[in-house]
Amino acid sequence: MPPERLPVKRRGRVLSARAMTDAALRPLRARRPAAALSGTLAVPGDKSISHRALMFGALAVGRTRIAGLLEGEDVLRTAAAMRALGAEVVRDAPGAWHVAGRGIGGLEEPADVLDMGNSGTAARLLAGILASHPMFAVITGDASLRRRPMRRVIDPLTACGARFAAREGGRLPLAIEGARDALPLDYRLPVASAQVKSAVLLCGLNAPGITRVEEPEATRDHSENMLRHFGAEVSVAEAGAGRIITLRGQPDLFGADVTVPGDPSSAAFPIVAALLVPGSHLRIAGVGLNPLRTGLFATLREMGATLTVENQRIAAGEPVGDLLVTHAALRGVEVPPARAPSMIDEFPILAVAAACAEGTTRMRGLHELRVKESDRLAATAALLAANGVHVAIEGDDLIVHGTGRAPPGGGLVTTHMDHRLAMSALVLGLAADQPVQVDDASFIDTSFPGFVDLMNAAAGEGAPALLAA
Ligand code: S3P
Repeated sequence: MPPERLPVKRRGRVLSARAMTDAALRPLRARRPAAALSGTLAVPGDKSISHRALMFGALAVGRTRIAGLLEGEDVLRTAAAMRALGAEVVRDAPGAWHVAGRGIGGLEEPADVLDMGNSGTAARLLAGILASHPMFAVITGDASLRRRPMRRVIDPLTACGARFAAREGGRLPLAIEGARDALPLDYRLPVASAQVKSAVLLCGLNAPGITRVEEPEATRDHSENMLRHFGAEVSVAEAGAGRIITLRGQPDLFGADVTVPGDPSSAAFPIVAALLVPGSHLRIAGVGLNPLRTGLFATLREMGATLTVENQRIAAGEPVGDLLVTHAALRGVEVPPARAPSMIDEFPILAVAAACAEGTTRMRGLHELRVKESDRLAATAALLAANGVHVAIEGDDLIVHGTGRAPPGGGLVTTHMDHRLAMSALVLGLAADQPVQVDDASFIDTSFPGFVDLMNAAAGEGAPALLAA
């Protein structure tokens, strides 16, 4: 076993032990920092792009070199799955990986169940790949992922000729018998989901002819960008608020270099923390600024945030820049439902910002939040309510009544195996009158390894603001 593979194996063992029991709950507490947040920091690589770089690398011929890969547990699951399908996936140095792909149609049948841990993206995109490869595979995940709906990918992928068997309600574990001669798909998404869109496109890679996906609202287009980067023929046409994507099947994908930008969904946490802690000023270097991901930044600006971009550039087909943020008094706003896909993972942290803003913030059209790593609509409301914030759910809307003052805090937040709830609650603790505690911070490692150290470093010397409870 080459030494560079060891971290993944080690993490795999730790993960499965934790997934099976509650023994490793990691309670954590956040309190107001002694000093303002300041300095320059970098957040880990983009999770969506990291998964795709490994997957497209495994489907390409030749070598893909990845810089800045997110080494969070979700992405390590994808790396392990691509290995189980026969690709060579190697960590050369921190964040620097290479993949020697098998070519489209060249994957091997995995010898064992593919455990995708906490990651819905990994599970659903993988289902798309497997549907058009003639072999048997089983996908499972942790307790959170096994609760999440898979019918949304099973239904469209069945039309290519694949056969699926899942638990009641289309839940994992999911057994897949991939199609021998897959048919191309023509599918209109019933929900705005980049995961479902990407699953259909990945399936179409190993089907002859044109695969076509129509999305009613534009969702993150990292798959489309990366498919082009690897040599596929993809066209995108605007269609009202949505898009029609067409892919010519069975292309020759060639290994490519991918530089993964910092994840804007991770940058969201230090950004909101800096907005809320008086006197703060942070620069976050190298953040992905794909316009289908930046709804939070637009919303924060409407709320009165000073958030500027410097050094804007393009890396591997994606816009990137440095973000500068300064503490500001925020005011409540209305967030239209059409903006939801471009900030779908950012509502818990926006709700924390809204709790400290003056006036009411209404976030509309959040039905998809109910099927994330947790029911994030209910859990975000509970997070705020536990800390003395007035909050309500009306239909699919979340309404937060801010007072323009720091919330009381002092609550214990249940994180439901959800990394973004844990980080949102901890950021609230940096601003609230009393410390905020989370029952389990361990899932932060799925997307933002190093979060606690990075936030404590931004708060400078002295007593740490985030500490074991
Ligand atoms: C993702 C898409 C989003 C997002 C998830 C990552 C992706 O899910 O919530 O964290 O990488 O495609 P949906 O597309 O299902 O909304």
